[in-house]
Amino acid sequence: MRNDFLPMPALVEDVIVETPTIRTFVLQLAEPMPFRAGQFVQLFLPGVGEAPFTPSSSPSEPGRIEVTVLAAGRVTAALHELAAGAEVGVRGPFGRGYPLHELEGHEVVVVGGGVGLAPLRSLLYTLFERPGFARRVSIKYGARAPQELCFRSQYADWAARPDVDVTTTIDRPSAGWNGRVGLVTTLLDGVDVDVRDACAVSCGPEIMLKFVARKLVDVGFRAEHVFLSMNRNMSCGMGICGRCNVGSRYLCKDGPDLSYAEVQAVPYALG
Ligand SMILES: Cc1cc2nc3c(=O)[nH]c(=O)nc-3n(C[C@H](O)[C@H](O)[C@H](O)COP(=O)(O)OP(=O)(O)OC[C@H]3O[C@@H](n4cnc5c(N)ncnc54)[C@H](O)[C@@H]3O)c2cc1C
Ligand code: FES
Repeated sequence: MRNDFLPMPALVEDVIVETPTIRTFVLQLAEPMPFRAGQFVQLFLPGVGEAPFTPSSSPSEPGRIEVTVLAAGRVTAALHELAAGAEVGVRGPFGRGYPLHELEGHEVVVVGGGVGLAPLRSLLYTLFERPGFARRVSIKYGARAPQELCFRSQYADWAARPDVDVTTTIDRPSAGWNGRVGLVTTLLDGVDVDVRDACAVSCGPEIMLKFVARKLVDVGFRAEHVFLSMNRNMSCGMGICGRCNVGSRYLCKDGPDLSYAEVQAVPYALG
């Protein structure tokens, strides 16, 4: 029987430098690990520790997953030191994954901030692989500065797909940047979808989620149609340690994505 506490060995096949602070690790797993977009894994570095990440690759490749990591502290800094050929451990997948059944047949607005586009990329691949599943996919993405836009080389390909559009913004003006300037919430002003029927999925820093969710509801989205990746600190990943609760829910089991309606039902869940 599988022991969910035991990491599976994985080989770092490639390391892709996405931005000065974000790298994608392409991992060849000892055995395929079937996962759904939005489910997360615990990445284990011997002698350092482990941390949760949501694969940024397509679930259609369960033996070779990509994890896109912002250098934030101890484990992530050590991960950024790794080169191709290194070995890591992987546990999972954990969580429910994105609520695909809720998105089917709707226009879907995908709102990312910084490294938050990484988990969302797995969702995008899933939607792209099922033409017609979502009526339309509208990607709104913000980063602090142009050099911090993740997966920048892919936007044109995504936008070239039928019924997909991509709009990006950076927080402050920057030399050489001719695109939009302002927080990602500014991309939601006059959003061009049927807001009463559309769904939105957002991933990014918690402060961003709070303002994105409020804005979406302000412009007419239903709180039950807004899904937020509550990527809080986690430990066991299995509903045992109690580290990740929001009210009576364990994000590692019942999340990490919760609807804004569920989040609003818990006082101060989003600060
Ligand atoms: C389900 C889930 C999915 C995630 N997916 C990704 C991903 O795809 N890519 C990615 O880069 N990161 C992701 N994260 C965040 C990532 O797990 C943390 O950045 C990581 O645990 C930090 O570990 P560390 O040892 O490097 O930092 P630490 O030394 O533990 O902490 C460094 C700083 O970051 C803060 N911090 C630690 N964890 C988090 C967190 N979860 N949220 C906010 N602040 C935190 C600490 O409070 C501290 O200030 C995800 C988190 C969760 C829970
Ligand atoms: S991480 Fe242990 S209960 Fe959720």
